[in-house]
Amino acid sequence: MDDMRDQSLSLIRRGYDFTRWLRDDDPGPVTTRLMGRPATVIEGVEAARFFYTEPTLSRKGAAPPIPAMTLFGPGAIHSTDDDEHRHRKAQFVDLLDETAAFDVARRAGAEWDRRIAELGFVPDVFSMACEVLFTAVRDWAGVSADAVGVRRGTSQMVSMIDGFGSAGRRQLRAVKGRIGAQRWARAEIKRARKSGETETPLGTVASWTGPDGRPLPLSVAAVELLNVLRPTVAVAWFVAAAAESFVEWPEYRFAVKVRSVDPKAYAHELRRYYPFVPVLAARPRTAASFEGHEVPAGGRFVIDIWQHLNDPEIWTDPENFRPERFNDRVAGQYDLIPQGGGDKRDGHRCPGEDVAIELIEVFAVRLAEFDAIEGHGPSMRGNHSRMPPRPYRASLTL
Ligand code: HEM
Repeated sequence: MDDMRDQSLSLIRRGYDFTRWLRDDDPGPVTTRLMGRPATVIEGVEAARFFYTEPTLSRKGAAPPIPAMTLFGPGAIHSTDDDEHRHRKAQFVDLLDETAAFDVARRAGAEWDRRIAELGFVPDVFSMACEVLFTAVRDWAGVSADAVGVRRGTSQMVSMIDGFGSAGRRQLRAVKGRIGAQRWARAEIKRARKSGETETPLGTVASWTGPDGRPLPLSVAAVELLNVLRPTVAVAWFVAAAAESFVEWPEYRFAVKVRSVDPKAYAHELRRYYPFVPVLAARPRTAASFEGHEVPAGGRFVIDIWQHLNDPEIWTDPENFRPERFNDRVAGQYDLIPQGGGDKRDGHRCPGEDVAIELIEVFAVRLAEFDAIEGHGPSMRGNHSRMPPRPYRASLTL
């Protein structure tokens, strides 16, 4: 049933449960108000197709201001449209190609192995994964270790991610993380521009242009450099989810270990089953409607990613964790959308999806080697009101 009271605070308070609460068991589109404007929440394959192909939908001002400033950063690609978006996106997609995914994953695997050989024990899988991921992506990018150490850089990335769904202390930490990271990222872009460096990803981002052929403003190039580093660290949430799944279902740990389940299928199911991104928003520039629900210009269509990934019309037994479902299923453009849908070159779909999948595989395979994996803490799937979920705490003993 439509409810026209403003529900922005409910979204923060209820987290991943917000849209289910709003729908009250009705699977169709539901209209409410968010950030003072009408908003229609939609999900399903046709809804995803509409969200990613309807030309009037714009991303400018669509995301709430808190994540737009602290998570994506001012001037980020996430809030661009049309030529500006297409031009910037082509640069992201070219940078984050198969070779990049393989290289970042190889570095992360090597750093994990180095630490395991040195420590022989992992007290907290999530914290170690965050540091490993930051080290791997920082070094791959060519960002200097003198510019940002592993501890400081990791903590800045984690605080930006962890604050996206909070209006309190976590949000303040996210602001602090953003300000600190922006400072060294700007200095690194400046250094790369001065030296004319081109052979590293840092040098590539430093040379990115707008559609007019002029270099991106320094602060925007720094924001985009962080839009490569930060989401790579976010993969640690899926690493913690993998640890949880192995504690919960030891048979799957064994299946991944002996490869009777394909690690890629495992990565897909982890991304489907453990919610991370709850919803995405776009604003129609002229009134637009989906299945009879009209949103006026300036309102919002909100795609309910969580519900979509748990929709029984798309997934058999969505409540069950079943990586085998991906053994014989090719992920379609509009069904498996934990990182957005549609075509990554034309639309806003995540350009780092292959990087994320490669990384999850590398970690799942490594965690599966540990017979002594112990976990504690609430499930990341049951953790519905906190966005992002509190990472599952697991330890490993050799
Ligand atoms: C966009 C999720 C990893 C870079 C997105 C979007 C989602 C997403 C939902 C928005 C799609 C839309 O607006 O329609 C995730 C998740 C990740 C992840 C859950 C893993 C934890 C990565 C990685 C990178 C990356 C590893 C880079 C190395 C980006 C960029 C965008 C984006 C630059 C903006 C794309 C655009 O607006 O066109 N991601 N992502 N992400 N992601 Fe990712």
